Amino acid sequence: MLHGGFGTRLRPLTHTGPKQLIRVAGKPVSQWALEDLRDAGIHEVAVVLGELGPERVVEYYGDGSRLGLKLTYIYQGYPYGLAHAVYTAKDFVGDEPFVVYLGDNVLTEGIGEYVRRFEESGADAMVLLAKVPNPQRFGVAKFDEKGRLVGLVEKPKLPPSDYALVGIYFFRPPHIFRAIETLKPSWRGELEITDAIQKLIDWGLRVEYAIVRGWWKDTGTPKDILEANRLLLDYKYPGTIIKGMVEDDARIEGRVYVDEGAVIRSGSVVRGPAYIGRNTIIGSNTYVGPYTSIGYNCRLVNVEIENSVIMDNVTLEDIGERITGSLIGSNVRIRRRNTRPKGIRFIIGEHAVIEW
Ligand code: TTP
Repeated sequence: MLHGGFGTRLRPLTHTGPKQLIRVAGKPVSQWALEDLRDAGIHEVAVVLGELGPERVVEYYGDGSRLGLKLTYIYQGYPYGLAHAVYTAKDFVGDEPFVVYLGDNVLTEGIGEYVRRFEESGADAMVLLAKVPNPQRFGVAKFDEKGRLVGLVEKPKLPPSDYALVGIYFFRPPHIFRAIETLKPSWRGELEITDAIQKLIDWGLRVEYAIVRGWWKDTGTPKDILEANRLLLDYKYPGTIIKGMVEDDARIEGRVYVDEGAVIRSGSVVRGPAYIGRNTIIGSNTYVGPYTSIGYNCRLVNVEIENSVIMDNVTLEDIGERITGSLIGSNVRIRRRNTRPKGIRFIIGEHAVIEW
């Protein structure tokens, strides 16, 4: 599983750690990916780490036993590209067929079906594709008139189809590693996995594809994180689960997950789909609206919020306006002071975005 990268588009959240650790709908994005692998019967996983807070990844997942996995960490460091990241796992995979899962990709249906299909096919590689409205942003598939995959183009100006490459790939050694060895850096200075797969096609090897069922989201930007949050809350939480405490006169409507130690105070309303993280306190006089995920140890008092993702140890107090479509990083404190003279006081780090 690839856990490196620059994470530039998610700054400032990625100043302190990798984007894959952003908690969405109750779990870091990469945990959703690891659980997908586990549920497909894959228990030995190499986690390829980058330069952004690799120690935080090791600290969070440990040996993986908590998730029913056996994890090995490999340090890629500087992100020289997906193909480079895959190559770092060459000794780890040996001669076994393997899956590459980008740790910032989210699927609403599992990958079990594709793993089985790949194992039975005997193909040298298999890619997953999804139909997208904006293929220019992705690696895009090119087909011949018989519907066979004949090429892959990275972020094309004129896309040959509407089918984007999902960040989950299946390979059978040794050809993929031979292909990577022949690569030269692309115009953006990376060893591209699309070029490596193109080589396999050009060498006449068997490269198959499957179209994903359900939703797929690549969580590269804040907007993507909010969308992944909505999808995960919709698909992964079918009912209300209350592990924490809901005080008398607090209202829970729709599907809401209240995690251990969380408290919903009297007079507050949580309208699902929503996730309230461990030891977080909602209230009093607070409204948490649909498609909101709130992390661990947060405190919301006299606040209205909806369609947002809040990370850990965040305090929001007396805001006075509804917070919507927001992504708030860990340890942030936002409070409206009802004192005069009126004014707004900011202590904000690099790359913050504030819109009023
Ligand atoms: P991207 O989202 O393409 O890369 P990025 O993190 O550098 O993003 P940005 O453009 O915002 O700077 O990478 C896709 C996934 O692969 C993501 O999970 C990060 C991971 N990755 C690696 O592990 N190693 C690499 O060398 C690269 C390029 C990406």
